[in-house]
Amino acid sequence: MNSKPIKGIVLAGGLGTRLRPLTRITNKHLLHVYDKPMIFYPIQTLVDAGIRDVLVVTGGTNAGDFLRLLGNGKDFGLDHMNYAYQEGEGGIAQALGLAEPFAKGHRVVVILGDNLVEKGIADGVRKFEKMEDGALVYLKQMKDARPYGVPVFKNGQIIGIEEKPKKPKSNFAVIGIYMYDAHVFDLIRTLKPSGRGELEVTDLNNAYLKRGKLRHEILKGWWADAGESHEGLLEANQMVAGSLKRK
Ligand code: DAU
Repeated sequence: MNSKPIKGIVLAGGLGTRLRPLTRITNKHLLHVYDKPMIFYPIQTLVDAGIRDVLVVTGGTNAGDFLRLLGNGKDFGLDHMNYAYQEGEGGIAQALGLAEPFAKGHRVVVILGDNLVEKGIADGVRKFEKMEDGALVYLKQMKDARPYGVPVFKNGQIIGIEEKPKKPKSNFAVIGIYMYDAHVFDLIRTLKPSGRGELEVTDLNNAYLKRGKLRHEILKGWWADAGESHEGLLEANQMVAGSLKRK
């Protein structure tokens, strides 16, 4: 088993076109969700799961704002924060590939910068730590899974994942939290751009699946994809506000 510490990666590149005009002059991960900038939530999720070494991948014209906002990670009790810059919008797997100098030889927990979870991911991380190798993804049951990566099941096992299918074969979404062994960067090099010109995280997960190395966990509590649409952003605000009220 790989005994090196697990590294955390937050992906906050991309253009956020679905949230225009909010994102015309700023990066979507800097927009507020209730009382904090969106990016605070995924970073906190990693830290709450015990991950101390965090890299933020961002891009576009607002990259400097992340440095000003997050600094050395004091808000999260960290004393250092790592950054990488993605040119263009080549996809989630391309953004993850930029983390290789930071995470080579380590296992990684990857979280999309617009994904918020209520109850944290400590259980999943502990399960992943015990795995010899391979990948672990989180699933969440949805009313409409069409905007997401959707698993196809046979006898309770995932046999494939389809990205944004018109007719989903299950009502689960593969959410934007992924755990990978140290082979992830070699696998990313085998990917080809999809129809929309991106290196897709779904293709990466399918590559693990093909090798019989993909496990899954069902997420407890709510999940918000705050960058999916204006409704998604509104829902994320409401979910955070509701959780704070219940405390
Ligand atoms: O939120 C979960 C979904 O995220 C999954 O179910 C899908 O399988 C996965 O493809 C992804 O779908 P989205 O359409 O929501 O991805 P989006 O383009 O919004 O990108 C999500 C985050 O990934 C975004 O907040 C920043 C990061 N990203 C994205 C792209 C395309 C990058 O850092 N660089 C990129 O080039």
